Amino acid sequence: MKNLKQEIDHRRTFAIISHPDAGKTTLTEKFLLFGGAIQTAGAVKSNKIKKTATSDFMEIERQRGISVATSVMTFHYGGKLINILDTPGHKDFAEDTYRTLSAVDSVILVVDAAKGVEEQTRRLMEVCRMRDTPVIIFINKLDREGRDPYDLLEELSSMLNIEVRPLSWPIGKGGTFKGVYNLYGRTLNLFEADKQKVSENLLSIDDLSDARIDTFLGRQADQLREDVELIDEVYGEFDELPYLQGKLAPVFFGSALNNFGIKEMLDTFVRISPTPLPRPTDKGPIAPDDKDFSGFVFKIHANLDPRHRDRIAFVRVCSGKFERNKFFHHVRTGKKVRFSNPYTFFADSKEVLDEAWPGDVIGLYDTGNFKIGDSFTEGKDLNFQGIPEFSPEIFKELINDDPMRSKQLEKGIHQLTDEGVAQLFTQQPGNRVMVGVVGELQFDVIKYRLEHEYKAACHFTPMNIYKACWMTYTSEAKLHEFIQYRSKYIVKDKDDNYVFLADSKWTLDMAREKYPEITFHFNSEFKRAEV
Ligand code: G4P
Repeated sequence: MKNLKQEIDHRRTFAIISHPDAGKTTLTEKFLLFGGAIQTAGAVKSNKIKKTATSDFMEIERQRGISVATSVMTFHYGGKLINILDTPGHKDFAEDTYRTLSAVDSVILVVDAAKGVEEQTRRLMEVCRMRDTPVIIFINKLDREGRDPYDLLEELSSMLNIEVRPLSWPIGKGGTFKGVYNLYGRTLNLFEADKQKVSENLLSIDDLSDARIDTFLGRQADQLREDVELIDEVYGEFDELPYLQGKLAPVFFGSALNNFGIKEMLDTFVRISPTPLPRPTDKGPIAPDDKDFSGFVFKIHANLDPRHRDRIAFVRVCSGKFERNKFFHHVRTGKKVRFSNPYTFFADSKEVLDEAWPGDVIGLYDTGNFKIGDSFTEGKDLNFQGIPEFSPEIFKELINDDPMRSKQLEKGIHQLTDEGVAQLFTQQPGNRVMVGVVGELQFDVIKYRLEHEYKAACHFTPMNIYKACWMTYTSEAKLHEFIQYRSKYIVKDKDDNYVFLADSKWTLDMAREKYPEITFHFNSEFKRAEV
């Protein structure tokens, strides 16, 4: 008999996030190499390419050189079972990444040593800070001429609004980069650059005064001793608690491509990262060791074969034990559901599983019944929270180009928006359908998929909208007055909430002034605040 507590202690679920090109994919791959889940570097990427070649939809991705899919990879390391949730790097799919972050217990943020904090780095960190997610930072590409490590630390802490604490230290950079000193374990590991496999340590030393360091590092040895002394003085002892509270980010330096500094980080990650954490619901937090199963859908993945419209819903197990073929309660519809082929994911393959535990991510077949944010339980009517919809950045009206296929178009756009590809707003009277997205690219994906999977023809016409605003109010009469007054700009979201589409900041400010009884929100997370 497996024990719930042991299974929880055994698991670590996290995501690697970064601004595109900082090295997220490369680092993921090196983790899988260390975990023995793949044998050669290149496997993660080549798998992506193989998939793209077999499907039309993915052809868009291949041509654009991005990965839309968020996948899960599981491997064992240091006696733990580790689930990595991959996130799309492209900024047009940022919302997908934000949702994935609701399903992890911690993150590793990759930063390019030459570029420092970039736009997506900042946005992603904001989401982590909203939830107090513990963050480890990996400064990558030390094999190239980059910025000074002290400057980088300073920039991280000021721009990301978090305290930082180096736990490894680079020896040189660019052409003189020799490896990293492990400030946590107090060991020096010099690595041989090898892109293909995990290389053996050249030197493992636990005393900085050891003369062998001078032999290996020459003049850089004294610089290292000075740096370590300074860091100890400035930062003092490393304390895990502020890290677990999301207030302090340990920082590691290295080169993902060359396997420098990765083992230091992975070893520390396994030691300090949180086990599966409690999750907020509208009935209060659910602890992972609650014996009843519960979980929520954070991602729906379209079947990439256009002949089959079924999808995979990714569910994060939050408490208790999930079992194959057992009946569970689908809270939104009130229906009993059971799953005969739930999936688990290992590196680049998937297998049917019999049971899953808190922290695990399972893939459930869906024929169009599930939505992002849906909760499953053993009977309780609770809804997991913290999976916000943010105001889209770009809005367009959907125009039907083939009246004979209206039903298919309607079904298609509803199903695609259930997957979280975009947000759907409808307006009555008139039946106008508006689509809001984070980036232009999503319109191409939607149009393509509507044509190929639903055989529906459409185009989009731009709308001049500044923000979508969800509303809470203290006077129902005033809300109705506002809805009458601004009816042209009032729509409903998929959950039947009224949303005000403000066409400028000025109009929004005016509305705020005239209707103090109404509060306007840029994300749907206000529901959480009300509980
Ligand atoms: P991403 O997932 O965050 O978008 O980044 P990815 O890992 O794909 O890395 C982006 C580019 O940076 C890749 O080069 C990759 O090889 C390179 N890179 C990653 N880590 C390091 C490192 O430690 N040092 C150096 N010098 N480069 C690194 P590319 O040319 O875009 O792709 P590829 O042809 O190498 O696959």
